[in-house]
Formats: sequence, C-alpha cells, structure tokens
Amino acid sequence: MLSIQEQIKSELKKQNAILVAHYYVSPELQTLAEETGGIVSDSLEMARFGKNSKAQTIVVAGVKFMGETAKILSPEKTILVLDTSATCSLDEDCPIKEFSEFCDQHPDRVVVVYANTSAAVKARADWVVTSGSALSVVKHLKDQGKKILWAPDKHLGNYVQSQTNADMLLWQGSCVVHERFKADAIIALKQKYSNAAVLVHPESPKEVVDLADVVGSTTALINAVKDRDEQEFIIATDNGIFHKMREVAPGKKLIEAPTMGEGADCESCAHCEWMAMNNLDNCLDTLKNKNNEIIIDSSINQEAQNSIQKLLDFTS
Ligand code: 13P
Ligand code: SF4
Repeated sequence: MLSIQEQIKSELKKQNAILVAHYYVSPELQTLAEETGGIVSDSLEMARFGKNSKAQTIVVAGVKFMGETAKILSPEKTILVLDTSATCSLDEDCPIKEFSEFCDQHPDRVVVVYANTSAAVKARADWVVTSGSALSVVKHLKDQGKKILWAPDKHLGNYVQSQTNADMLLWQGSCVVHERFKADAIIALKQKYSNAAVLVHPESPKEVVDLADVVGSTTALINAVKDRDEQEFIIATDNGIFHKMREVAPGKKLIEAPTMGEGADCESCAHCEWMAMNNLDNCLDTLKNKNNEIIIDSSINQEAQNSIQKLLDFTS
C-alpha cells in the first residue's frame, strides 16, 4: 500500500497537476509541494508561479482567495482548493455590495485592495496588492498625486499610510490571527530575550508593528531570519511559517510572539484556523475526485485580472 504522500505524487503526475502551498499550511503539505515541482511561498509568488506553470491543474493549499487569484490569472486552467470553506476574515469582512457602495461614494479615489479579498472585490478595484508590494504601489500612486481608497485590512492600511504619508481612506477589516498579538506581552518577552529581533507581519495592530525590527510579508520575515545576525527572533505571524524558517536557519531560536494579555482568549493561538483545514487527506481526496474546483464568472474574472496584472507588471 502506497503512503498518502506517494498516492498524491502519483495523482499529481497523472493529472499534469502541481501543488502550490502557502507558508502557513502544514509541514507535510509544504514538503510535498517542493518535492513535486510546486512551490511554497507568499500569496504574490503563489499567484505568479501558478500563472507561469505549464501544468493544466493547479492545486492550491492555502485559503479560498489564493485559489481565486490563481483562477483569475489562469482562467483556462483547472484550479482546485483542498476545502472550499477555508476562507479568510479579511475576505469575509469585505462583502462586495457594501464595498461597491463605499467605492461609489468616493469616485475621486483610486481603489487599492489587498489580495485577501474575493474575485468580485478585486474586479471592483483599480489595483490589487499583497503585503510584499503594498508599500511600493501606494508610494507610486502617491507620487502621481492620487488619493487612495484602501481595503480591507485596517492595520496594513494604517502601516502603509504611516510609511508613505499617502491620503488613504481605510475599510475597517482585520485578520483574526494577527489582531491577537499583544504588545505588552511582546515587551515582557523582550526583557527575557533582550538580543532577539522582533519580526512582525503588517496585518498586526500598530502597537505591535511599533515594536518591530522588521515589518514585512511572509517572505520578507523568512529572509530576515536567514540573513540577520541575531540568533533569536520573536515572530508575530502565523506559526505555520516556523517550518520554513527552521529550514533556512536551522541553528536559530524562534520564539512565538504571545497572544496572551488583556482581551486575548488563549495564550498563543497564532495559527489560522482556515489554513489548518488543509491536510494530506483532503489533498488526495480533491485530486482523486476533482472536487472543490474554483469557478469565477468570466466578466468578473477579466476585470479582476486587469487589477492583478497591474501588480504583476509593476513588480516584475
Ligand atoms: P503574505 O502575502 O505575506 O503571504 O500574507 C498572506 C496572508 O494571508 C497573511 O496572513
Ligand atoms: Fe486571512 Fe489572517 Fe488567515 Fe491570513 S492568517 S488567511 S489574513 S485570516
């Protein structure tokens, strides 16, 4: 009897499919993606890789918006996700009807949305950005004298605003994982590990971002662990990222930023419940039964593609 990994490998081959995984999914899925010619990456690179791949089917281990982004960029390919209910609080916090009305009220602003949104919201936007590209795109728009309507993440929006001084009107969404990091608990941890560098994903609240030595996308945080001289790191992002960090910097000490403190409901719950829905069992099941296919209305797909293509052209 073949192991589940061997069965997935054989299905991927048989179906000319590749597995594209986010850094937050389980180590088993990350390893499998890499062993089979796929990729483990941040949301921007996942999208780019799927588009450039010759595979006919792309299996996305991540959350729904990542599957939709793959479909938007490769409408002719079959895009499968492992669980269609694996969503994202930012996506859920930004329903298209209310968002569209908000945009209509501010026709003088360029609409910039984070990749963590539905296909319909991307279609309504002028630009799509990721955490790895938001700063440079907003700076570019500011330099052109543009005012910005930003959605959905208020924390990332605040951070970008503080770094660029752009005129930004913010939608008030947030990430349920990053929002739980607590500044007071990180300060206490810093007393114990005084030589540690603090690495923070910009979906975190301002008080946490203010403590950071590095603020950046998942890829930027992994590179910081690899390249910086410190031997200890306090990390405020989903703990799924530790797998890749241990791989690229084996000897270094990685400390989970606590989510305890006033208002927190657990000591450390830094793992996205939707990312955790991805596993080897539903990966094999999805491939065998070709279920969980992402389908997007073609007119929405075309408009959303225009907004993402601007980002790909800008970052290439
Ligand atoms: P990255 O684009 O940095 O991978 O972030 C995606 C995400 O969902 C972070 O919570
Ligand atoms: Fe969305 Fe947050 Fe989960 Fe990332 S970690 S997918 S932003 S809920």
